[in-house]
This record gives sequence, C-alpha cells and structure tokens, in this order.
Amino acid sequence: MRKHIVAGNWKMHKNNQETVKLLEEIIAKKATNDTEIVVAPTFVNLLTAVEKTNSKGITVAAQNMHQAEGGAFTGEVAADMLTSIGVNTVILGHSERRAYFHETDALLALKVDTALKHEMRIIFCFGEELKDRQIDNHFNLVEYQLRDALFHLEKSDWSKIVLAYEPVWAIGTGETASPAQAQEMHKFIRTLIDKVYGYEVAENVSILYGGSVKPDNAKEIFSNPDVDGGLIGGAALNADDFLAIVNAF
Ligand code: PGA
Repeated sequence: MRKHIVAGNWKMHKNNQETVKLLEEIIAKKATNDTEIVVAPTFVNLLTAVEKTNSKGITVAAQNMHQAEGGAFTGEVAADMLTSIGVNTVILGHSERRAYFHETDALLALKVDTALKHEMRIIFCFGEELKDRQIDNHFNLVEYQLRDALFHLEKSDWSKIVLAYEPVWAIGTGETASPAQAQEMHKFIRTLIDKVYGYEVAENVSILYGGSVKPDNAKEIFSNPDVDGGLIGGAALNADDFLAIVNAF
C-alpha cells in the first residue's frame, strides 16, 4: 500500500525564529492521520527543525544536496552532512533548481545515486513547461526526465523514491493542472513505471502533485486514484493552510 504524503517546500523563506514558530504551530495544530507530513526548511534551519520535530511525527527534508561525497565545492552541502544531523530525506530536481541552477537530468542521476548510497529517501521532482504542453509534448518530456534521472536504478532502489510531478506552469502562478490533467499524467507515470519495473514497484511508489495546491483545491486534486499527496510551496508557509491540505485526504 502506498503512502499519502504532503510535503512543504519552504524554499528560501523563514529565518531561524520563523522556522521555530511555524513548526510549533504545525505541531500544536496537526491532527493524527495516516498522511505523512514532510517539511523542507533551508539548510541552516535543518538542525533546528530536526530537534524541534523530534518524535512529533514530522519528517524533515533538505531541498537539495551536492552529488559529491565532500571536497572543494564552496557553498554546497553533502549527503553525509544531512544524515549526520538526522535528515534522511532530500528533494531533488525541483524546477527552480533546474531553471536557475542549470540542473540537468544527467546531474540529477548522480545526485540520486549519492543519496541512495547514503540510504536517503528522495522526493524527485519533474514536470513540463507550458511550451511543452502547448505542443502536446508533455508526456514525452516527463518520460525522458524519468528515464534519464531514474531508470538506471535497480528495482529495490524504488522503495526510497517518491515522485513529485510538478508542471512548471503551475508553480507559484495560481494556475493548477485540473484534477483531470493531474490524474491523466499520474496515471501515465504509473503505467510507465509498471512497463519498466513491473506492477509492484508501480503500485507502491507515491506520486505527489505540486503546483499551486491550496486548501480550496487540495481535496479535489487528492481525490484522484493516482495522486498520493502534494508538494506544497506557498501554502506550506502558513500552518493553517498547510494542515488544511494535509487533512484534505
Ligand atoms: P507552489 O509551489 O505551491 O507555491 O506553486 C510548489 C513547489 O514549488 O513545489
């Protein structure tokens, strides 16, 4: 049975005090349900977040990491640094990393391998731009992204992979894919995984949807059979909004 997951990507928001405040609100107000809650604050606030959420049923994730084990890479963070403070989940391939920091699927394949070597779980983001959808190339593009970054993996690696389909045109824009568009793409992805890795892997991989998910549209998006949760940006910065999305299952 695959898991329902709602992950908040805090991007470059929230200083240390604000991180503590938001986490305290989430901890105080969260209901107990089966949906896993993930929060991804900035690197400098990860240790605070791990300490604050200790045994509170909240997973702390990093927003990125470097592919090397360590070395002369000024400004970067290695997998071992994350796991050494208790961060065992990492978001890789977010569209902002791809667009502003030129991350390609070939590079992401290396990051994926390093994360797996450290037994980390990966929330792998991918999705088409508006221009791809306009020329009806979105299925092809998503297939290439998955093939180039993930299809070298062994079947057993997939227990560590969470997929996050995020159409770039829906991120931070207020535009969402319609529930039907989300389901259509998620179904396509699951069928593709089934073809490459078989039924069991396909059935067990959680596929999150991301892009302007808000309290008022979450229920409809999450009601699709192949949508197993969400990767939330803007609405994750407010405890009430975030928890309303968590509770939308
Ligand atoms: P958004 O961001 O919810 O603000 O659209 C989603 C994301 O970037 O993961």
